[in-house]
Amino acid sequence: MKTLTLRRPDDWHLHLRDGAVLEGVIGDTSRHFARAIIMPNLVPPVVTTTDARAYRERILAALPKGDRFEPLMTLYLTEHTDPDDVEEGRKSGLITAVKLYPAGATTNSHGGVRNIDKAMPVLERMAKIGLPLCVHGEVTTPEVDVFDREAVFIETVLDPLRKRLPDLKITMEHVTTADGIDYIRSSGGNLAGSITTHHLIINRNAILVGGIRPHYYCLPVAKRENHRLALRAAATSGDARFFLGTDSAPHVDPLKECACGCAGIYTSPNTMSCLAHVFEEENALDRLEAFASLNGPVWYGLAPNDETITLEKRVEPVKFPDKRETGAGPVTVFDPMFPLHWDVVEKR
Ligand code: DOR
Ligand code: ZN
Repeated sequence: MKTLTLRRPDDWHLHLRDGAVLEGVIGDTSRHFARAIIMPNLVPPVVTTTDARAYRERILAALPKGDRFEPLMTLYLTEHTDPDDVEEGRKSGLITAVKLYPAGATTNSHGGVRNIDKAMPVLERMAKIGLPLCVHGEVTTPEVDVFDREAVFIETVLDPLRKRLPDLKITMEHVTTADGIDYIRSSGGNLAGSITTHHLIINRNAILVGGIRPHYYCLPVAKRENHRLALRAAATSGDARFFLGTDSAPHVDPLKECACGCAGIYTSPNTMSCLAHVFEEENALDRLEAFASLNGPVWYGLAPNDETITLEKRVEPVKFPDKRETGAGPVTVFDPMFPLHWDVVEKR
């Protein structure tokens, strides 16, 4: 039987929500992952260190008994964010990064940034103290086609920002295009990219062919096949600038299966099985540890985890629940559309 032992992985981009959904989903992450960067797009968003401290407590309180898991907190950048509060959050060890949502780009982003000039005092302070900025890299301009929003963001927002603040460390989150991959590869430094599990597996056909499939809809939306292949090449290359950020984003089914469904794909339960499948297909199982467990900690200035997890390849397909039941309703689990044979069998 084939087995694979890795340092315990971390998830560098995760939505845990709050209340009943948080309670229903957190075990799917803490089962396999040691740490995760927690997205702040709650209603209302996590905008101050006081909000982040309280949210961290709620996450820890929701953990299944016996699980050890470290939520790495972020602040939701607004045009009114106080640089002193951000610095204080960093100094106290509470805050790992600040998140930039262009206003209107995605779920609960209406309080995000409209005019980046207004956020410059905070961004300058972050550059000074070495606090990373995580970006949702899409423009929201109505004239720009939804499939081009990442490429246009790079040209019109990200590149000018990097020129203005070369010392600011930026994570381009959930990269979905070859343009994003090329841009990160060609950048001199201070830029890295996270890649989701689902963008390594689906292209835009998954959403639209044979009927509209809301459980494959997320933002940034999956692109053409050539982009998926570029993401696969980057993720499996071992290049330290690319690492896992699942963007696992639970929404209860009624909010996905309706006339205006929410963006988000819930991959926490089967992410490690999906990744082992993808890396094996690419003949890169030996690089899965770099992508899931090593590159992220280096980028965020943290030590990799001492514990390990072991995956085993089974002959029979591994069974995952179709849905995760939560107190707020069922959340559909990502279906990769092929059987999964790798299973996590052991964690230490
Ligand atoms: O698909 C997504 N879902 N993309 C995001 O950027 C946000 C997330 C969510 O919060 O549901
Ligand atoms: Zn996200």
